[in-house]
Amino acid sequence: MRKAANTVPEPMMQAFNSEDITAAAGIIAAGGLVAMPTETVYGLAADSTNDAAVARIFDAKGRPQFNPLIVHVSGPEMARRHVTFSPMAEKLAAAFWPGPLTLVAPRRADCGLSLLVSAGLDTAAVRMPDHPFAQGLIKAAGRPLAAPSANRSGTISPTTADHVRASLGEKVDFILDGGPCAIGVESTILRVDGDRATLLRPGGVARKDIERVIGKPLEKPGGARIEAPGMMASHYAPNAAMRLDAGAQRDSEAFLGFGEIEGRDHGLNLSRAGDLREAAANLFRHLHALDRMAAANRLKTIACAPVPHEGLGEAINDRLQRAAAPRDEKH
Ligand code: TXA
Ligand code: MG
Repeated sequence: MRKAANTVPEPMMQAFNSEDITAAAGIIAAGGLVAMPTETVYGLAADSTNDAAVARIFDAKGRPQFNPLIVHVSGPEMARRHVTFSPMAEKLAAAFWPGPLTLVAPRRADCGLSLLVSAGLDTAAVRMPDHPFAQGLIKAAGRPLAAPSANRSGTISPTTADHVRASLGEKVDFILDGGPCAIGVESTILRVDGDRATLLRPGGVARKDIERVIGKPLEKPGGARIEAPGMMASHYAPNAAMRLDAGAQRDSEAFLGFGEIEGRDHGLNLSRAGDLREAAANLFRHLHALDRMAAANRLKTIACAPVPHEGLGEAINDRLQRAAAPRDEKH
């Protein structure tokens, strides 16, 4: 089965096997990881509505930080269920989807996407890939798929199934082999804020082609809001102050526990079992909830139990440190 929208050169395309797609969709539904070809690079896909599944992506990639991930959708309709599209976003999607353009837009109040997928931000990045395997998988899974490039963090992005195998090996539950990726560089990322479009990452769609569609120059990231990919200062910071590596809760604190170190009241635990993947899956949700709890109870500080630095603990600690940084270092 081949779709008209497919831009991958035909001789390179592996046969579309609907049994493989069905098997892969079952793995996604069970919270597993599937490497899927897109027109840009292979993505390491998981259910974007499942915090635990998204945490597995970070674990498999060995990411030292939680960067927000791109959510792959079947089209504008699926995107609009989770983010708000301004007329500018609609225009860009109409012009470039399916294709290598990612749009960062505000999460809806009833957004079903994991908070971890947004790394705690109030926006989410969405794109409609131009590849029959990726499209087939999203449709079979019936939900949007979070997918960063399917390689270990800090290594070269994979454009063949062999690259994925070599980089991730056993860490991925299933690899859909769609042959080499036609474009080979990641998507262009735009933040769309009302009628303003800001280039966050150059990629598969050229700036001039975007500017022709929107009829004005793209804005540069910077100024008061630091928002370029990887610039973690843009990430969620609670209103309450944070106290890290807290051995016990003090009066007038909310408490984020880990393992056996728990708060007495106004507390949540990242993982009673001390499981770092579970902790990652809960991190942003718990920070949001504790911030609300602190405000409701007039508590000025959220104290956090120590979290070990191994595995995903490195990313969790990175995130906690950024949330705790002096407020004038953030916007
Ligand atoms: O071509 C691509 O875009 C590939 C394929 C697999 O689709 N995906 C990809 O995803 O490159 P990833 O996760 O490696 O890149 C995500 C980038 C990160 O640099 C992240 O900072 C940025 O997108 N990003 C994601 N959500 C964002 C948000 N809400 N605000 C700002 N930047 C965001
Ligand atoms: Mg990457």
